Amino acid sequence: MIDESHWNSLLAAARAAREQAYAPYSRFRVGAALLDEAGRVHGGCNVENAAYPEGVCAEAGALSALVLAGGRQIIAAVVVGEGAEPVTPCGGCRQKLREFADATLPIRIADGQGWRGEHTLAALLPASFGPTHLTKKDGRDAAS
Ligand code: THU
Repeated sequence: MIDESHWNSLLAAARAAREQAYAPYSRFRVGAALLDEAGRVHGGCNVENAAYPEGVCAEAGALSALVLAGGRQIIAAVVVGEGAEPVTPCGGCRQKLREFADATLPIRIADGQGWRGEHTLAALLPASFGPTHLTKKDGRDAAS
């Protein structure tokens, strides 16, 4: 269980990150925050590009920050957006999160008003492909 003070820290970080979003094309600002295994919080915002497909999601930015800081496990995630529907991570970001998280990873969604929902990674990305699939039957790494 993630305690409420961690959720509040993640929410504050995701909201602060969203303020920094660079989204001149979609005008759809997103912030994300990830809690790592050392209790550290890493934020990220979406960064769009004039070459549209090169834009990066908020979750991907937060994940880069986590890895850069030496983190290797995502314990909890928060995504903050605005709109009629709660902003859940896109399909690509679900897979990116999967690399560093268990199926039980809790992902909370929020907006300017407050919490809008909570999902596990398993619910958002069922029967997912992950690092263990690359381990051979004898337990050896696929690369060896
Ligand atoms: N976006 C995110 O950053 N995260 C999400 O979870 C959903 C979508 C961004 C990508 C793009 O910059 C904008 O929102 C509109 O799709």
